[in-house]
Amino acid sequence: MQIPGHKMQYTLDGNGWAADLLGDTVRDDIPLQGGVDDNALSHDFLGQAEHLWARQVGADHCRFLVGGSSQGNITVIGTIADPGVPMAIDRTSHRSTQAGLVISGAVPVWIYPRLHPEFHLPIGMPAEAISGVIEQVNGFFVTSPSYIGTLSDIAGLAAAAHDRGEALAVDQAWGAHLDFLEGRGAISQGADLAVTSIHKALTGYSQTAVVSAREGRGFVRRSVIDRWVDLTATTSPSGTLMASIDATRVAMVRDGRHRLDLLCEAVREARARLATVPGLIVLDDANAGCSVDPMKLTLILAGTGVDGTVLGNTLFELGHGPETADRDVIVFTATVTDDPEWIAQFADLLAGMIDRMRGPARPIVPVAVWQVSPEVVVTPREAFFSERKRIPLREAVGEVSAEQFCPYPPGVPLLAPGERVTAETVEAIAAAAKVGRVAYNSDPTLETIEVIDAI
Ligand SMILES: Cc1ncc(COP(=O)(O)O)c(C=O)c1O
Repeated sequence: MQIPGHKMQYTLDGNGWAADLLGDTVRDDIPLQGGVDDNALSHDFLGQAEHLWARQVGADHCRFLVGGSSQGNITVIGTIADPGVPMAIDRTSHRSTQAGLVISGAVPVWIYPRLHPEFHLPIGMPAEAISGVIEQVNGFFVTSPSYIGTLSDIAGLAAAAHDRGEALAVDQAWGAHLDFLEGRGAISQGADLAVTSIHKALTGYSQTAVVSAREGRGFVRRSVIDRWVDLTATTSPSGTLMASIDATRVAMVRDGRHRLDLLCEAVREARARLATVPGLIVLDDANAGCSVDPMKLTLILAGTGVDGTVLGNTLFELGHGPETADRDVIVFTATVTDDPEWIAQFADLLAGMIDRMRGPARPIVPVAVWQVSPEVVVTPREAFFSERKRIPLREAVGEVSAEQFCPYPPGVPLLAPGERVTAETVEAIAAAAKVGRVAYNSDPTLETIEVIDAI
């Protein structure tokens, strides 16, 4: 007599209680304990799978996560940070890094990606992004690939961090496939910690992620990583979810790497095809000012006059929606589940649609989320635990925000707890809400904001 998950039998041959609702929905739910393994985890299947993943990515330790890269980011920030001590962190990183800062109590020293002078998009960070930090900090955290696919110089950044005696952590949430391309993964390039979503660029179940580490370089310790993973993890992990990480590794080792090579070639050809479309800019290693994820097709539409949100919606109706789109920029991701031949057909389809939808060329309007450069008044942790009051957002200029306003995608906060509200931020929030979802603030109407009371 056990709970349904433990006896792994919800509906007694499909005829039990609420079988119409629950049967298919929970059919694949197998817990780790008392499911994939026995209750005492005596076969250590998870440990073995983690060991094999670590070997694959060039790490000497890794942990499977079912709380996504969000949990991974909290874990790596906790691992390198100390309460009340500065750490250097990329301000265009995902909203979950704010949770890492709140829980760890670290004081962020924000670093900013360079912006492309014409495209106004974030370019991958060079080593100087670290050597230029003048403060004494505990560790560095950067995001690469960015949401638009730009890649940072991880080898240079790691060397610069290590010269200062500090660890480099990389949010590689969008780049799990890079670990299967020779020498392209963050750990193999010298990072001490990397977080990857297996459910994004690869084929893990939703929620799956991995945190990998190279303890041998001497900048992080496995016991600290484990402490943070165990602090943030559920005690009832899904064996199905975790097994999907292992199955992904096996599939990639079997023939996925070869398939990735074919797909990278297909994306290269698609970029060349689309670069012939008048007015269209296709982001690549030559024009971006940094390397670009070989599986991303990032198109700058302003010169074609096409509205990216309209193009994106039309593509959704055809079943080929983009990863993200705003008026001027549309981003597509190829993954191992796509056929290389399809990528070529898709490039032709896109070229034809752009030609049919074209209009007068217009200048590229910078997207606010990539340009944020806030005045930080108190740390995210102080702001999170402060007394707050609710006031109209339009009257909040000059106040200090107690909450996050986060356009999703890309999940980078326009305004974060502890930052001064400016007239530009208020305008940017309204503009972001017109074209998409602004999330994680307490008032869904965006009319009001919680600010710190009596600072
Ligand atoms: C750069 C980046 N890091 C972390 C995350 C969080 O990933 P997850 O959804 O797996 O928690 C995201 C999600 O979109 C992301 O874009």
